[in-house]
Parts: sequence; structure tokens; C-alpha cells
Amino acid sequence: MTYENTLSFAQSLDRNDPIRHFRDRFHIPQRDGQPLIYLCGNSLGLQPKSARAALEQELTTWQNLGVEGWFDRSDDISEGESGQTWLGYHATCKEALSHILGAEPAEVCPMNALTVNIHLLLASFYRPHLDNRTGSGSGARKYKILTIIGDFPSDQYALETHLKHRICPTSGLNLRDALIEIEAHPDDGLIHTTDIQRAIAEHANELAVIWMSGLNYYTGQVYNMAAIAETARQYGIAVGFDLAHAIGNVPLRLHDWGVDFATWCSYKYLNSGPGAVSGIFVHQKHHDRNLPRLAGWWGYREDKRFEMAPGFLPAPGADGWQLSTPNIPALALHRTALKITQEAGMTALRQKSEQLTGYLEYVLAPFDAVQILTPDDPNQRGCQLSLLVRKGGRDLFSYLTKQGIIGDWREPDCIRLAPTPLYNTYEDVWRVGDALSRFFA
Ligand SMILES: Cc1ncc(COP(=O)(O)O)c(C=O)c1O
Repeated sequence: MTYENTLSFAQSLDRNDPIRHFRDRFHIPQRDGQPLIYLCGNSLGLQPKSARAALEQELTTWQNLGVEGWFDRSDDISEGESGQTWLGYHATCKEALSHILGAEPAEVCPMNALTVNIHLLLASFYRPHLDNRTGSGSGARKYKILTIIGDFPSDQYALETHLKHRICPTSGLNLRDALIEIEAHPDDGLIHTTDIQRAIAEHANELAVIWMSGLNYYTGQVYNMAAIAETARQYGIAVGFDLAHAIGNVPLRLHDWGVDFATWCSYKYLNSGPGAVSGIFVHQKHHDRNLPRLAGWWGYREDKRFEMAPGFLPAPGADGWQLSTPNIPALALHRTALKITQEAGMTALRQKSEQLTGYLEYVLAPFDAVQILTPDDPNQRGCQLSLLVRKGGRDLFSYLTKQGIIGDWREPDCIRLAPTPLYNTYEDVWRVGDALSRFFA
């Protein structure tokens, strides 16, 4: 598309945007009665207008039915899902999640929080084999973890924890020996798929698992998950992705790509509220393997859960990784927000997203002081652009905030802006360029 840096051009794109009406489904934060230009969906998505009613419905059920809410749904007046008890509530999120993730419903389950799920999945999929005969670790075999250097801290800490608990004490191995960290290329500061593939091939004999983000939180780079999963499969190594920044943002085909496992959060592009429920994906090929796991009663076979019998029998599919009684208010917010994404459809969202982010890149281009860290190839990015502003970055960020443009700041000199196709407009993006021209004038 050929862009123009004028307000009238931006407004004409908005008029012709086939999914523009989805903006009306959200509360746009305001200041002094004016809507803010909210470009922070990469951190916390906006509140769907349906959220309050969805929450109230569950409060009403609780008020009227008490514990019977787990089994009775007679008072439900909410859209579409009436008849669903709290017992089966998680299942009502599966269709939308499957659509968004490119997964089978049995492969996904909303549950817990993201970091909790990283640990649960690593407990199952990181199966290090150590030969302890020597006691020195010299006979250690498949125990290494491949990851991306500088991935989100929670991911790093989770990996460290598993190594510390499960490898280091018995093997005498050093933490650093067990991590293979892929570094960014010096030429472009990006992670190259070929470097990952080469490392997988080179370390195949000692690699136990690959765990990495699908979309880098800092640079906004999307990794080629299909190619990485394919290479991992060739060498028989399990691969999992942290999809916090990818879900609802970029097209995903987890089932077809043969990804082994994944988790995400729903408070960013899925707009399910601060600290909202996370979820997991476990590929069908693992469902009958009776994988070891950190089990809890909610992951027990649903038809027998209340028999309270000893000996864990996992529910089929991803549901078998649940631990605890689900948080129904959180699921209510999640379900109503998911419906919006599903209704808009990932294809339409992605089409708009590419144009919207392309437009942001275009309006930023004249400003030499602003370097875009995110790849310019649309296949290697979602909606977020990360701007490196070496001199006066903090001042620029404060200026934008004063102008009602909400992004976020990452130390030491990065501003992240994420025009989100569900509720941002081309005019929002044009206004960013307009503010920058005043700042740099
Ligand atoms: C990529 C990534 N991983 C993990 C986390 C941690 O998520 P939580 O605090 O919900 O466990 C975040 C939080 O923003 C994230 O962006």
C-alpha cells in the first residue's frame, strides 16, 4: 500500500476499515474527556464493554445459587453460553482459543497464570537424562535447554529453577553448561532462524528441550516457529513457546507446525483483564503418553474427580494439566473477551495489523533520532514496533504521554508502541507522527 502522511488519508483508511466497528466494543481510556491514543495493548489490552455484564452474571449466579453454581446454570442470561455450569466453564473458552492458536479444542485449556504454566509444562517436557554413574556429571547425556538470550525474565528464571532443582544438585553441572543461548546477529540485532537450526543440529545429542518466546517482548521480532518446530522434530527434541506477545497478535498454527507445548497470557492482545487467566497448549501427539506432571485434583478425569480416589488419572488432553479449581470471574472476563477476537477473526485482524503497523513505520521514517529495532519484514513482526531513541528517549516518552499517546518504556532507551487492530485507528497512528514532528521541530 502507498501511504500518505496526512490526517485526511488516515481518516479515509479508517472509513474503509472493514473491522473498524470493533473499536466500539471497548472502553477507550480518556483524559479530560478525550480518548487517549492507547498503543499499549502489548502490555495490557483494553476492557471490553461486555466485561462488566460477564462478571456480574457470575456474581449473580454465586449470589443466587451459592455452591450450586458449579452444577446449575438455570439463572444464566448471558449471551450464547447459557446452560454452562462452572464445572464446564473452562471448556467454553476452547473454541475461540483453538481458532486463535490454530489448535484442536482438546489441545488447549485456559488455566493458571503464565509463569505457573511455564513451570508446569517444563516439569512435563523437560525430561533430562543424566548418567550418574560417574557422579561427576561427565557422563551426562540429554539435559541441555536451548533458548534465546535475553528472553523475558520469567522464562529465564523458570529455566534456571528447573536446572537448579533437577540437574545441578545430582550432576555437579554448572547452570551455564546446561543452557544453550542463541544470540542476536551482530549485523541486524535480530535472532536468525538459521542460527537456531544450526544449534539444534549441533547439540542434538545433548539437547533435552527447546523453550523460547514466539515473539520477542523487547524487539517485537516474531520467530519462525514453524521452521524451528520442524527442525526440532527431525531431531526428536520437544519444543515449546511462550506466546505472551504472539497470541491474538500474529497467525498461529500450533497443531500443524507440530509445536509440542505452549503457554501464554490473555491480558495483552486477548483483552481479558489485568492478571487474567493464562492457558496451555499440549499437542495431540502427547495426549496418550501419560506424561509425568505436577498433578492436582482439577486435572483428574472429570467423570471421576469427585470420587476422591488415590492415584492420579489425568483428564484427556490439555485439561489433564489443570491443578486447581478455576477462577470463574477470571474465566468470565476471558470468555467474553475471546468472543470479540474470534468474531473479528485472526485473518481480518492480521490484515489490518500489517497495514496499521506499516503505517506507523511510515510515519516514523522521517525521524533520524528514532531507530526501529523491530524487523521491517511483516512476516517477522506483529503489531508492536520497538523504537530505540539513544538521545532524549525518556523525554520523548514523557512528551508522548503528555500528548495523550500511551506506549511503554523499556530501559535503557526503548519505547514500545503497539497499534492494535481491534481498537486502534489509522488516525491514532498519524497522531504519533504529528506529535513527533512537534517534538523534533
Ligand atoms: C514474554 C512473557 N513471558 C512471561 C511473562 C510473565 O507473565 P506472568 O506475570 O503473567 O506470569 C510476561 C509478562 O508480561 C511476558 O511478557
